[in-house]
Amino acid sequence: MFAGKKILVGVTGGIAAYKVAEVISRLRKLHAEVHVAMTKSATEFIAPLTLQSLSANPVHVELFDEPKLWNVEHIALAKHIDVVVVAPATANILTKMAIGLADDFLSTVLLATRAPIFVAPAMNHAMYHHPATQANLALLKDRGIQAIGPDTGFQACGTEGDGRMSEPVEIVESLARFFAGVEWLKGKRALVTAGGTQEPLDPVRYLGNRSSGRMGYAIAQVLQEAGAETILVSAPTDLPTPFGVTKLSVQTALEMYDAVLARFHEVDVVVMAAAVADYRPAVQAEQKIKKNGSNRTLELVPNPDILAQLGRMKTSQILIGFAAETENLLANAQLKMQRKNVNLIVANDVTKPGAGFGSPTNIVSFLFPDGRRIDLPQMNKLEVGRHLVRELAGLFGMDIKE
Ligand code: C5P
Repeated sequence: MFAGKKILVGVTGGIAAYKVAEVISRLRKLHAEVHVAMTKSATEFIAPLTLQSLSANPVHVELFDEPKLWNVEHIALAKHIDVVVVAPATANILTKMAIGLADDFLSTVLLATRAPIFVAPAMNHAMYHHPATQANLALLKDRGIQAIGPDTGFQACGTEGDGRMSEPVEIVESLARFFAGVEWLKGKRALVTAGGTQEPLDPVRYLGNRSSGRMGYAIAQVLQEAGAETILVSAPTDLPTPFGVTKLSVQTALEMYDAVLARFHEVDVVVMAAAVADYRPAVQAEQKIKKNGSNRTLELVPNPDILAQLGRMKTSQILIGFAAETENLLANAQLKMQRKNVNLIVANDVTKPGAGFGSPTNIVSFLFPDGRRIDLPQMNKLEVGRHLVRELAGLFGMDIKE
């Protein structure tokens, strides 16, 4: 699995730096191509020569050193690698990553690379629990960076608690799972819808909903990372398009319907994460509607149900729907799954704190037509997406066992 894979190990200044020697040694034994970048403080804990010998590559520390392998080294390396793992990751590097500070070789590569990044936090228990560290970690996870650990136990400073770096074998296993996942959806084409549609009343007003688009954007990102060629049909949001994903912007449910149906025959999976308006105003005024002091009645006409239509049309495609509910979550989700003929429904109770619209986290259950159900705890939307990708790979018949 690791043969030919190009891994950058970023080492920062914590006592756990000595353990990274074992990470590098294991990766090399598994035939990975390992590169190492150390911060200056890391070199106080472990000698660059040790890591150079184990990785069989020159170790990068200073940004302005003579080039060792390529010309503009931090950029060349940033482009060359398949994945980065920062182990140990100190509170300091997490802060630098969160704000995008690039003042040495490692932090510059971390900013320049488009490769997925893992961090293995390692620090004193109190530093780990400081609100600043927790906020930085939450922000990084929100951007797609994956944390390995930390573990709980004895710490070098003499205290007990969480903050210990995960064991080298665990770090290597996380990378193995990542490389397995990268292949899962290779050759598959995916279409994801996201955001809340807007149904115009006149040139300045519309009927909308509270969807932020975050869940759908997260799913598009993880599908792309898992190797699928991904199209994102998006209602208006202010989110950046995930790297590598093709985005098509729409505003109304009817525009979304047309965009999705036009591409349905070309794709292997559709994830309908958009909050599609069930109704639209019967007429759209050409000019701004003026107030006249009296009551008004708005006539609404139904929009087509895109997912139900796909459920009727589907041949071999896998359909994934969402059920955002405020009551009777599981019963309503079950009904939707049958009515719309989907292969998996993601049920979430949008009234729970930490779930649903606008929140960076979600609390969901996956329901399958065979009655299987998976309840996930509260987690970041990208993590929900990663669980969904796993189940999707299973639906495609891949072996998803670790
Ligand atoms: O019926 P309900 O709107 O709750 O179903 C939610 C699921 O159906 C979501 O996956 C949503 O994207 C999809 N949907 C749709 N077209 C609609 C309404 C909802 O595809 N008009």
